[in-house]
Amino acid sequence: MKVSNVLTQAIGLTLSLTAAVEASGSSRSGACHPHQPFHPLPPSQVRHRTCHVPSHGDGTDDSANILSTLRKCNNGGKVVFDADKTYTVGKAMDMTFLKHVDLEILGTIQFTNDTDYWQANAFKQVYQNATTFFQLGGTDVNVYGDGTLDGNGQVWYDLYASDALVLRPVLVGIIGLHGGTIGPLKLRYSPQWYHFVANSSDVLFEGIDISGFSKSKNTAKNTDGWDIYRSDNIVIQDSVINNGDDCVSFKPNSTNVIVQNLHCNGSHGISVGSLGQYKNEVDIVENILVYNISMFNASDGARIKVWPGVASALSTDLQGGGGSGSVKNITYDTMTIQNVDYAIEVTQCYGQSNLTLCNEYPSSMTISDVHFKNIKGTTSRKYDPHVGTIVCSSPNVCSDIYASEIAVKSPKGYNAFTCTNVDDSLLAVNCTSS
Ligand SMILES: *[C@@H]1O[C@H](CO)[C@@H](O)[C@H](O)[C@H]1NC(C)=O
Ligand SMILES: *[C@@H]1O[C@H](CO)[C@@H](O)[C@H](O)[C@H]1NC(C)=O
Ligand SMILES: *[C@@H]1O[C@H](CO)[C@@H](O)[C@H](O)[C@H]1NC(C)=O
Ligand SMILES: *[C@@H]1O[C@H](CO)[C@@H](O)[C@H](O)[C@H]1NC(C)=O
Ligand SMILES: *[C@@H]1O[C@H](CO)[C@@H](O)[C@H](O)[C@H]1NC(C)=O
Ligand SMILES: *[C@@H]1O[C@H](CO)[C@@H](O)[C@H](O)[C@H]1NC(C)=O
Ligand SMILES: *[C@@H]1O[C@H](CO)[C@@H](O)[C@H](O)[C@H]1NC(C)=O
Ligand SMILES: *[C@@H]1O[C@H](CO)[C@@H](O)[C@H](O)[C@H]1NC(C)=O
Ligand SMILES: *[C@@H]1O[C@H](CO)[C@@H](O)[C@H](O)[C@H]1NC(C)=O
Ligand SMILES: *[C@@H]1O[C@H](CO)[C@@H](O)[C@H](O)[C@H]1NC(C)=O
Repeated sequence: MKVSNVLTQAIGLTLSLTAAVEASGSSRSGACHPHQPFHPLPPSQVRHRTCHVPSHGDGTDDSANILSTLRKCNNGGKVVFDADKTYTVGKAMDMTFLKHVDLEILGTIQFTNDTDYWQANAFKQVYQNATTFFQLGGTDVNVYGDGTLDGNGQVWYDLYASDALVLRPVLVGIIGLHGGTIGPLKLRYSPQWYHFVANSSDVLFEGIDISGFSKSKNTAKNTDGWDIYRSDNIVIQDSVINNGDDCVSFKPNSTNVIVQNLHCNGSHGISVGSLGQYKNEVDIVENILVYNISMFNASDGARIKVWPGVASALSTDLQGGGGSGSVKNITYDTMTIQNVDYAIEVTQCYGQSNLTLCNEYPSSMTISDVHFKNIKGTTSRKYDPHVGTIVCSSPNVCSDIYASEIAVKSPKGYNAFTCTNVDDSLLAVNCTSS
């Protein structure tokens, strides 16, 4: 029994070493550091042939070229998007048939600005009305090359300002991918979230460079870096995110996720949630480790946001409350903040401005076994003297929330925390109310 285990492991190791060597020419590392994934990532098979994607090069739609090259090189090939080319995508591409294939993106892929087409044809992912330009899934798929995906977001930022119900596509839809690595890649001007990762497992994101600011007075809203949903064993590491909403967000049924070595600027923090938005759904977020994050110019550093037990409206396009479930075993370890409104924010009153109402209808989402540690830096002026807020809607729905080694100061030198309905003997912070 033991001997065969050792043998199996040795074979597994040889396979993954082979995969690493094979991929080294393409600048994909495939290695997680310093923390290892909750479960080992499956090795990638060797690729045997290379296909280049032709491009029209004149702004006409290249999606048929892309899909036919992927079909030709699927099952053991590498599909190259050439360095000197721009590929225009004007049709929604279903790439969920991929298997043992690499996409080496050296050039640029740009999505058209045809907002009528995309609103009618982008893939509807249902959750929070998210739609995606494409959906990429299957098994053992690596996407790398440090080329660019450009979502042509400006037209969407301007359109959204006049109609909040416009369905803005997510730039990268990873839907049903089991085994693979994504990155290095440059992602620019996403109309909405940069990544939606759903129904996926064993995926590593690394070397992702996100940026895209609006050039008009209409800011680029809801540009989350990653939204993870119904997915397990995911790693996000070594990335730089310049955006205007959550840097990373753990949405319903994100389990076993490691996020490490990120530089986030302008975001809403690394967020568990929002959760409990849909009344008849059960949301589970469990086993999350967030390590070594630099957080600049953000509303939050470490954040947990769940909806209350009562219907609430955050904005025209975001309403919810009343859903149940649990948030369990979440660790935020090592974070440096600068110009961040709250270093730590835990709320069970998301989307509801009336705190009395939240306490009357406590959240049905329980929060337990949460660890905040080694967080340092300076907040923004916004809530000075407060630097954090840990507020549950009832002591019955929150337990075992710990904070230690929190060396955070406000610009005026204060360190006050609001702590409500939590055991503040576990919080090594300056709770000024409880
Ligand atoms: C959309 O893209 C086309 C082709 O690149 C360009 O001619 C047009 O001006 C763009 N429209 C908007 C509203 O940006
Ligand atoms: C994920 O899988 C579930 C169950 O098969 C399915 O209902 C759903 O449409 C899939 N996609 C997303 C984005 O949830
Ligand atoms: C989609 O948007 C509509 C309009 O805002 C809203 O009523 C509905 O609840 C949303 N659906 C989901 C799944 O969020
Ligand atoms: C932390 O992340 C930064 C990148 O943001 C990286 O340079 C540094 O090596 C990481 N530290 C550790 C201990 O991994
Ligand atoms: C960081 O975000 C701020 C807005 O919060 C923006 O003005 C600045 O340009 C960003 N920095 C980089 C390097 O993109
Ligand atoms: C989350 O997982 C639980 C347990 O498997 C399941 O009951 C629930 O329906 C899932 N929720 C969502 C939103 O997928
Ligand atoms: C909780 O998460 C940590 C990583 O932060 C992990 O090492 C541990 O195994 C998890 N606990 C359980 C019970 O899965
Ligand atoms: C934070 O924002 C300020 C002003 O908007 C900007 O100068 C600075 O570069 C930003 N920090 C980072 C790390 O981008
Ligand atoms: C907040 O909710 C309480 C309890 O339901 C209610 O009595 C109060 O009028 C509400 N306050 C506002 C400003 O709506
Ligand atoms: C705690 O915060 C209050 C309010 O800002 C401040 O007056 C007090 O000095 C702080 N206590 C410590 C030990 O820093």
